[in-house]
Order: sequence, then structure tokens, then C-alpha cells
Amino acid sequence: MFTFKVNGTSVTADKEQNLLTYLRDELRVTSVKDGCSEGACGTCTVLIDGKKIKACIPKLSSLVGKSIVTVEGLSPREKEVYVHCFAQAGAVQCGYCIPGMVISAKSLLDGNLNPTRLEVKKAIRGNLCRCTGYVKIEEAILQAADFFREDLPIPQRETQALLNTRFKRVDAEEKILGTGQFVDDLILPDMIYAKALRSKYPRAVVNRIDLSKALAHPDCIRILTEKDVPNKKIGHLVTDWDVMIAEGGTTRYIGDALALVATQHKETLDEVLALIEVEYTELVPITCPTDALKASAPLIHEQGNIMRKEVLKRGNADAAIKKSKYVVTRKYSTPFNDHAFMEPECAIALPEGEDGLLLYTGSQSVYDERHEISHMLAIPEEKIHCHSMLVGGGFGGKEDMSVQHHAALMAWYTKKPVKVKFSRQESLNYHTKRHAMEMEFTTACDEQGILTAMKAILLADTGAYASLGGPVLQRACTHAAGPYNYQNIDILGMSVYTNNVIGGAYRGFGVTQSCFATENNINLLAEMAGLSPWEMRYKNAIRPGQVLPNGQIADPNCAMVECLEAVKAVYEANPYAGIACAFKNSGTGVGLKDIGRCLLSIEKGLVHIRTSAACMGQGIATMCTHMVCQETGLDPALIVHERPDTNRTPNSGTSTASRQTVVTGEATRRAAQKLKVALADGKSVVDLNGQEFYDEFSAITDPMGAPKDFPVSHVSYSYGAQVVVLDSQGKVEKVVAAYDVGTPVNIQSVEGQIEGGIIMGLGFALTEDFPVQGGYPLLKFGTLGLMRATEAPPIEVHLVQAPGEKLPYAFGAKGVGELCLIPTSPACSHAYYRYDGKFRTSLPLRETYYKK
Ligand code: FES
Repeated sequence: MFTFKVNGTSVTADKEQNLLTYLRDELRVTSVKDGCSEGACGTCTVLIDGKKIKACIPKLSSLVGKSIVTVEGLSPREKEVYVHCFAQAGAVQCGYCIPGMVISAKSLLDGNLNPTRLEVKKAIRGNLCRCTGYVKIEEAILQAADFFREDLPIPQRETQALLNTRFKRVDAEEKILGTGQFVDDLILPDMIYAKALRSKYPRAVVNRIDLSKALAHPDCIRILTEKDVPNKKIGHLVTDWDVMIAEGGTTRYIGDALALVATQHKETLDEVLALIEVEYTELVPITCPTDALKASAPLIHEQGNIMRKEVLKRGNADAAIKKSKYVVTRKYSTPFNDHAFMEPECAIALPEGEDGLLLYTGSQSVYDERHEISHMLAIPEEKIHCHSMLVGGGFGGKEDMSVQHHAALMAWYTKKPVKVKFSRQESLNYHTKRHAMEMEFTTACDEQGILTAMKAILLADTGAYASLGGPVLQRACTHAAGPYNYQNIDILGMSVYTNNVIGGAYRGFGVTQSCFATENNINLLAEMAGLSPWEMRYKNAIRPGQVLPNGQIADPNCAMVECLEAVKAVYEANPYAGIACAFKNSGTGVGLKDIGRCLLSIEKGLVHIRTSAACMGQGIATMCTHMVCQETGLDPALIVHERPDTNRTPNSGTSTASRQTVVTGEATRRAAQKLKVALADGKSVVDLNGQEFYDEFSAITDPMGAPKDFPVSHVSYSYGAQVVVLDSQGKVEKVVAAYDVGTPVNIQSVEGQIEGGIIMGLGFALTEDFPVQGGYPLLKFGTLGLMRATEAPPIEVHLVQAPGEKLPYAFGAKGVGELCLIPTSPACSHAYYRYDGKFRTSLPLRETYYKK
């Protein structure tokens, strides 16, 4: 028996376990999050006798007589100050890290109400945040110090939510205080737990799976195998991903599931899994795309090892290169990269109605999951009801199902609520990654430095399954020439199956890789042409009315040159400054269905915004609130934003391709326009109780290869220029970024996206790696190389717009989510090139302040 205090109340625990599990599972103190259970992430930070500790570490026996404080135990004044300051600063995105951050802030401010920025950084060094880049969290803590020190009153709430203003995001409070629920915060009556047995080898024939000993375990409820799956394969776009591998089948990566075990208690899952006996014949895995392309290579999928091929040609690149004064050819390589969202994957499925299922999920599209699960179970989509809880970051990594289908399958058979949750190591090993790519780029220009042509070959490792490897490769290719004005391109891309981890969607969607190559080549050409890299880009930057290399005419709202102008001074003033440009589509484009839908229903005098657009932290609820308030002038206190739910919210497609602000934003604006008409003649919202206002927006684009001179590939593009400045030690001193994202919807959110994206981009460039050897990932969460607050440099953000007409949708707003990190790695490599003269062609950059 161990007696101690939690938030002022004495508690007695009767069995030994770690504090995190006890707080979450037994006391239901759910502000304390389980981000890694390895002491690396800080999402479970609590105070023990006033000292901050990660709750996943201490055992209850070490806590006897001690006093534990979590966010739930803060005083009312502390709660209101932290809620105000974190929301006002824009410090909250997905929110998963935030209660832990607040505890670290309290630990600092309890002893020091005049902290410096550096002291704040040190105080939160143990808390990882993957969304914000720490800048706004630091500002929030400094503000909170002012409030406590000066005993400042909390300002009145905002009564307007107009565009391009600072407005506190609508889901801030529940995330700061930890009252908002993520899937893992739910414990349902009679709930059981499930976990899959994964393949021991990346490639092996599964000769026999013997379940007998496992079934005899007293806590085992059910074990399912491939035989129990009605439709054996799932897949977001390509149905090639086995739900489980059958006896006699061949595994494709170490994440392949062989059996799915359900137990009464989650603690026994590993014991039962260990009792399953599998006989394998181990095979030599294919671990690189070049080997997979050899004629002698075994086929990973029946249809061959080339998952997707892209050929893009415009003009005559060979002829233009021949006539060009300067030509460079270089090979580049970029590694796998983990999304490292702070919330590991978790889903709960349970029976609903007579023969349906309810799925609690945290993903990027509830409708995609409904579709895929109904396919797997061979039942109508209407039988599957998907409801989204809060989502603790996604960045593309929660587009594919990971745990949802296993939860649904087990619930289907057992007729019980089933929770399936990845440990952090499972998340690292099994979910999709940014594609590793090998690239050869040739770029040419004339004597004056005017770009003339480029040729490129891109080879992407899509690993064991397709995931979104097709569109990722396509975007890598369509954006490979950069945001410049030239017409001769010749690009060949191939995405190839291997036995590695799976390449999938990841913020930047392939452009992160090809931008690294193209921007580095431009630096070499600038040198040959005797131009500064800034000048070279300025001469060639795409301007409104000019034609992008893909043939699309740049809109009047294109502000590439304005972005460059905004960073010129800082680039020129610093000898070790590196520069890069980028552009990124908003919307799926290329002729695909791209529809945003919004239903505004008036219920009890409040306007409910109903759309399935998933928020993984980027701020969909706040964006939609702005759209409604800007259009109608309503007080934001009258607005309720509902979470995605296939029974309540119309299908707004996946949160991908930086599309939701434009597509769902415009659908919401249109629905709000109808509401505004109904509110005319002095009617109030209450007068409209029971009424509904629906609209949608379909972004129409031309398909790839459309027989047109100037196809519209995407409904809009955002543009950016970034400068990374190194100090004399070769450490990043600051980053200055100028971005054209059209009309900023919410200032805190736009800045926050950019700051968070830049820190993620610096990680990709300098500190992160995802080594995979022989098909096995060789890392733990703590060795991933995620940047911490003390490593994050100052970031200066400039939001610029073109003088021309705005995009005619969503009040002229464009996507920001992906663009922000695309130019960071080439800007870093350029800065190091200027620093030490070494031209680096692979990531993460080596021989730097950050990596040997
Ligand atoms: Fe920090 Fe998402 S807000 S991890």
C-alpha cells in the first residue's frame, strides 16, 4: 500500500506501477499524457514535492508521503492565467504537449517571476513539442510571468473573430487544462485491449502460426488471423496493404501483422503475444530501390516492384541544356523521416446499434476510415460510425489507418469495446515515414543567369506498401523545377517497393525532397553566372501572368518576388546566410475530386459548424469560426465547432495537401453567406433555431497531362523565401521567413504553423535521422534527434501578399501548413556552403555544429 497526495487529496494505491499509469488509468487524471513512456517527451510532466518529473518514470513505492500536482490541481488563478497567456500567444496547436508544458512553466515561475527567454527555454527543455517550434510557448510563459508578477487582470474575451487579426483559438482552453479528450483518454465500460503480433523479419515466408498456447492464457479473449478478415487488403488509395499475413504468405516489412490478440487487461497483451509460435523461412530483404529495380529482384507485390512512375515533360530540356551557358548536375539523397507527432496512434471500436460499429479515432479523415473499414469488413459504409476525438498531431502520418482497422476487426468479432494503442516504439517502427529519395538533378541557365531547363530523375523508397506514395512522388515531380519562370523540364520519377518501413504522406508531400535538390543546384549556377544566390532567384522568380514550369499561369496573387524582397536585407547582411525558395499547392488538384462541405445548424441559439475537416493541430475550428464571423459579423461566443463525425458532419475530404483553409474555408464561408441572408431583417440566431444552412465548394482543376497549353493543376499556390543565418560557430543564429499565404486567417495560427514548420524543417536538415538497416529501424524516440526548445533559434516571420487580385475563395486565404518547412533544408545547406565551402548533397547535413 502506497499513500501519497495527488492534487491535494490523499490517495492509497495497492499495487506497484508507474505513476503515469496510475494517474491515467486509476485516478483518471488525463491531462497527464502518454507520449512515449520512455522519459523522452515530457507530455507526462508533473510536480512531485514541487520538482518537475516525468510521471512515466517513478514507481508508486517511491512516492510514499509525497505530493503530486498536475494541471488539474492548479489554483483557479493559475488556470485562468495559463489559459489566457497560452491562448493569447498562440502557444497551442494539437495541445498534446501543453499540460506538461504548463507544469514545467509552473515549476519555473513558482521560483522566478522574472525569467529570461533562456531560462524559459531551459525550463521546458524536457518537454518536446512537434507543432509550435516553441516560440509561442516561450512567449506564453513570459506573459504568464508578467500576469503573476504584476497581478494583472485577465482581459475580457474577444467579441469579434475577423480575418487577419489575433484571436484566441477556440479549442485552446480544453487543451491547456487537459479537459479535452484524445482517444486514449477514454476508458469505456467492459473495454478490452488488442495488439498485433508483428513479423520478426522484414521478408520471410510464414510457414505456420500456432495459437494454441496463447489461446490457453487465462486473460486471452480472442485471437484473430488473416482467415477472419473478410477483405484481406486495405489501402488509402491503392488496396495493397494486408490486414494480416496468412500462413504461407510472405511478409513485406517488420510491421506486418500475423495475428491480433485481445485480452481483458492491457498488461497481459505482451505475455499472450509471446506465446504465439510462428515458423518462418527467412528471406533476404530488398532494402533499397536500386536493388528492387534489378531484373533479378524478387517481386514484393505481384504487379512488380515499381509502385508508380511519373514522366513530366514540357518544352525540350535536352536541346535547351545543350544551348545553355552553364549546366550543373548533382546527385542528392534524403532519408526516411518520422512525423513524431506527440500523440501515438490509438483507436477504440465498439458495437453500435444492431450490427454496426462506432470508432473513436484521431486521424486525418473520418470518412476515409469509414470507407476502408467497411471495405475490410465487407459491410455497408452506413454501418460504420467514425467519430474524431482530439488529434495530437498528424503531419500526414495519420492519413493511413494504423490501429483503427484492428480495433474495428476485434470489436466486430468480440462485440465489445476494444482499444488498440501503439507504444512509441511501435509508432516509430510501423507507421509511414517521409519517403527516402535518391535524386539526380541537372539545371541550366544562360550567361545572364536566366534559368533555361532542368532534368531530374527521382527514385523514392515507398517501402512495403503504396500508402500515398503515388501522389507524393507526383508532387515531388510537379514541384521539382521550383517557383521559377522557365519552360523546359524533363522529369522521371519512380516510387519503388522495398522491404523497408513504409513511405507515406508527410508535410511537404515529396516537395521537401525535390526542393532540396533544385535549390542547391541553383546556388551552383549562381556561382557560375557570377550572381548572388538571392539575385539569381530574384531574376528567375515566377511573377503573376508568367508560366510556371508545369504550364500553369501564375495567379495575380503570386507574391514570390515580394517574399524575396522581404528577406533580401538579412541575406545580404550576413556572410553565413543561406537562402531558398519554395512553392506548394493548396488543394489536391490535378483533376481530382476536391470538395469542401459545411453545414451550419442552429441549435439552442448557437451556430454549430459541422464539417469533417480534421484538425490535427493546425486550427480548423478556429479557421471555420473566422469564416463564419467574418461573413456574418456574429460574436464568436455564438459559434460551436463540432468534431468530425460521419453521422453529423458532411464529408470535407482528408486534411492533406494544405487544402482545408481554401476548400472547407470557402464551403464554410458560403454556408455563412446563406446564414447572413437569413439573419437579415433584424433576426437573431435564436430566431433561426432548427434551421440549417449548407454549402460546398468544389475546387476544379485539370488532370495531369491535360491537352492544354496552360493547365490549371492546382486551385492555388503559396510561395515562400527563407534565410537561415549561422553564427561564427556554425550554429543557426536565426531564421527569417517571408511567406505569401494570401490573406492570413488567424495571425497566431499562421505564425505558429510557420514557426513549427521551420523547427521541423531544421530538424530534417540538421538533427533528425531515421536509420534503417536490413529493413529494421535502428532508433528509439529519444535518439530521433527532435529539436528541443534550447536548440530552437529565433524565427522572424514576414507575411507578404501580392498587390494583385486575391484568390477568389475563402477571402483570399491560401494554405500554409506544408510550405513552411519546404525551403528550410536547402537554406541550411546553402548557409553551410557559405560557412565552410563544403557542398553537401545529403540530409541530415553532416560536419556541422549539429552532426559529425
Ligand atoms: Fe505541442 Fe502539438 S502543440 S505537440
